[in-house]
Amino acid sequence: MAEIAVVGAGYVGLTSGACFSHLGHHVVCIDNVESKIETLSRGQVSIVEEGLEGLVQAGISRNTLRFTSDTQAGVSSADYVFLCLPTPDLPNGSVDMSYVDAVAKQIGPWLRPGTVVVNKSTVPVGTTRHVAQLLGRDDVSVVSNPEFLREGNAVADFLNPSRVVIGGDDAAAVERVAKLYDGTNSPVIRCDATSAETIKYAANAYLATKISFINSIANICEHLGADVRVVADAIGRDPRIGGQFLQPGPGFGGSCFPKDTIGLLRLAGDAGYDFGVLRSVIEANDQQLARTVSKVRDAVGGSLRGVAIAVWGLTFKANTDDRRHSPAVEVVRRLVAEGARVTAFDPTVSGVVPELPSVGVAANAIEACRGAEALVVLTEWREFAIVPPASVREVMAGAAVMDARNLLDPGLWRSVGFVYQGVGFRPQ
Ligand SMILES: NC(=O)c1ccc[n+]([C@@H]2O[C@H](COP(=O)([O-])OP(=O)(O)OC[C@H]3O[C@@H](n4cnc5c(N)ncnc54)[C@H](O)[C@@H]3O)[C@@H](O)[C@H]2O)c1
Repeated sequence: MAEIAVVGAGYVGLTSGACFSHLGHHVVCIDNVESKIETLSRGQVSIVEEGLEGLVQAGISRNTLRFTSDTQAGVSSADYVFLCLPTPDLPNGSVDMSYVDAVAKQIGPWLRPGTVVVNKSTVPVGTTRHVAQLLGRDDVSVVSNPEFLREGNAVADFLNPSRVVIGGDDAAAVERVAKLYDGTNSPVIRCDATSAETIKYAANAYLATKISFINSIANICEHLGADVRVVADAIGRDPRIGGQFLQPGPGFGGSCFPKDTIGLLRLAGDAGYDFGVLRSVIEANDQQLARTVSKVRDAVGGSLRGVAIAVWGLTFKANTDDRRHSPAVEVVRRLVAEGARVTAFDPTVSGVVPELPSVGVAANAIEACRGAEALVVLTEWREFAIVPPASVREVMAGAAVMDARNLLDPGLWRSVGFVYQGVGFRPQ
């Protein structure tokens, strides 16, 4: 049983800490937001993530999981210190390393000899060495262990990962970190730190590429009269392509893909390589957001000024409460900028949405539609698919539906008088 400290108790850090405690280790999660530490210490998890609260409460009761805002106390008794800190993008496209740098500088003097510092944040290539320099210790090792969990499925992904990647120069430290994952039965890829850091960016860039690709195919399908749902299903059955991430939508978003695609483009550029494919992926994504807005505009007669629009979904995808870089939020922002009066419903949102202060928030999906000219579906929450369209029809002023997730049953919605539009096919 190892002594693990996790610095940063957000989506990645809290999941890692709770799961390592579930795997039998002693874990302390450290965060500098005192209120977060207080609620977590009571076993309350404020983020939406299936199974996480149960693991946190079980860890607290077993005394294998605790929380503190005292970084020194937390890291000084640890054999392993995981850095799960934010690495947002800066306006110039480079990665904001200030959180990682600050903690690396701070904890150096407090670590026990032989501690392994494990970086789980998504960071530019070269950060493992950079962190080692900031720690200023020759009796402490640093390895890179990028995280691939998906929000909404984080616990299951952590406990049953498709692979664990561990990179570093110190083979013994890499082996020690690999041991921490005993019990997950996943393949461990041991490599140098530069490759580990590159793997994370390459994975996210590839997934983003798949999304922009299928969105582009969907747009072609609309022009040609083909049906992207059939096309995606058929191409996805080829194991060389794979069926996941082939659902067209309003564009990719979330806390990772936008910043990591821009980050890799920037990294490549700094290294002297023009990553044109990735630049196109990012541009196609922005065009997809614009296309979603223009479909809504067209559906209400060419202008959004003063038009009441209902929106279903604000999170960047279903089964999470995360709205960071959400395409839904971005589409709503653009609708509002063109003068639309938007009322939204999302199962994880109540009260005012700070980033969309003029948007009304309804108590349920049907209330969001009251008096609206058009309904726009922006997040693929399953519960939206079972809302009876007849009940929606009763409260709406207009009959336009723009289903940016291909979530609703087009035939059903058309049968009660809606003018339905999805992505990548022409309704019959
Ligand atoms: N969210 C994901 O799905 C995901 C998946 C894989 C990798 N990542 C990467 O993991 C990293 C963390 O992402 P996240 O989504 O968990 O971020 P997050 O914002 O949810 O969590 C970061 C936490 O760090 C805390 N923090 C900031 N400065 C601190 C300090 N000085 N001391 C202690 N705590 C501090 C914050 O209060 C916050 O709770 C990022 O690099 C991200 O790119 C995220």
